[in-house]
Amino acid sequence: GKGTYPTFMLKEIDEQPAVMRRISQHYLPVDQPIAIDPALIQHVAQADRLYFVAAGTSYHASLVGKRLFERYAQIPAEAGVASEFGYHWPLLSAKPFFIFLSQSGETADSRQVLVEAKRRGLPTLVITNVANSTLAREADYHLLLHAGPEIAVASTKAYTAQIAVEAVLAKAVGERRQLGAAQSFDLAGQLALAANAMDEITDNHQAWDQLAAEYLGSATDAFYLGRGIDYDVSLEAALKLKEISYVHTEGFAAGELKHGTIALIEPGVPVITFITEQATADHTRGNVQEVKARGGNVLVIASEACQQAGDQIVIPTLTDELMPLVTVVCGQLLAYYATLQRGLNVDQPRNLAKSVTVE
Ligand code: F6R
Repeated sequence: GKGTYPTFMLKEIDEQPAVMRRISQHYLPVDQPIAIDPALIQHVAQADRLYFVAAGTSYHASLVGKRLFERYAQIPAEAGVASEFGYHWPLLSAKPFFIFLSQSGETADSRQVLVEAKRRGLPTLVITNVANSTLAREADYHLLLHAGPEIAVASTKAYTAQIAVEAVLAKAVGERRQLGAAQSFDLAGQLALAANAMDEITDNHQAWDQLAAEYLGSATDAFYLGRGIDYDVSLEAALKLKEISYVHTEGFAAGELKHGTIALIEPGVPVITFITEQATADHTRGNVQEVKARGGNVLVIASEACQQAGDQIVIPTLTDELMPLVTVVCGQLLAYYATLQRGLNVDQPRNLAKSVTVE
């Protein structure tokens, strides 16, 4: 049940710090090896390329997974939308390994690719929240999210759990490959920091209600931008707002602004900008100036390492690839309150089902 919460979505947003701590306890026991089947770790470590396949929010988590595995396991990775992948198989590498992300473990688009991967004799892993789901049963390996049931149609805690579990596996595989980057990756410490930062954000519901009113109150369109890892989270934050509030949104790479989308920036248009990647922060700041010069209503969400005077939201700095654990919570709460303020059903938006079992 919802307990004392008015909606499942708010409850599930608030559960995220506890989910981070649970994943850490489960997979990263103190002074013990990472709690993942060594056969799975070995199998992934031997791959020459990883193929992530997923839909919707899970696809957005797989974009982060690609970055985590390339950095910490040093295995090239691709992330594909299941409904595209299934009908346009790429030319595969010699030793591919398939990683499916699915909260429900029932998504037909993803299952279709899994069935074909199995038919071709390719190794498969499913990362899912539901132990006895179809995908969990059909894949060679599965890893559980331990996020607890997700009831609201809009996915929240599954996304952050997916990123955390991807990070655990990337570290385990990188360690198996004896990579310094993986050995020195203090993932338990990072997940603890992320959980504390999430707590700070979710402890302050009223502030998010006000920010949503100020930036999204009367919006019919909203833009989300960022570069690199902040681009990945901008896609997810944009999906969150559009699917429950019905505000038209776009998430895009900040540098792409000048290649077309800037034509849409007019006075008052909300532009939510994520700036947590030090390597690209200055360039994104430049894009913010371009938007402001055209009257856009810019809300900056920055990490401490990237912060500047005037930034509305500043969050603790984590390693780049884990920043979405915290930045997405800001996006979730903005979407939540913008939707409540419109008097809409947050948990059950129109036209959507929790698990999509048709292709
Ligand atoms: C968005 C959302 C959907 C799902 C997508 C995949 O909030 O919930 O985009 O992420 O339908 O579902 P799963 O992860 O169950 O395969």
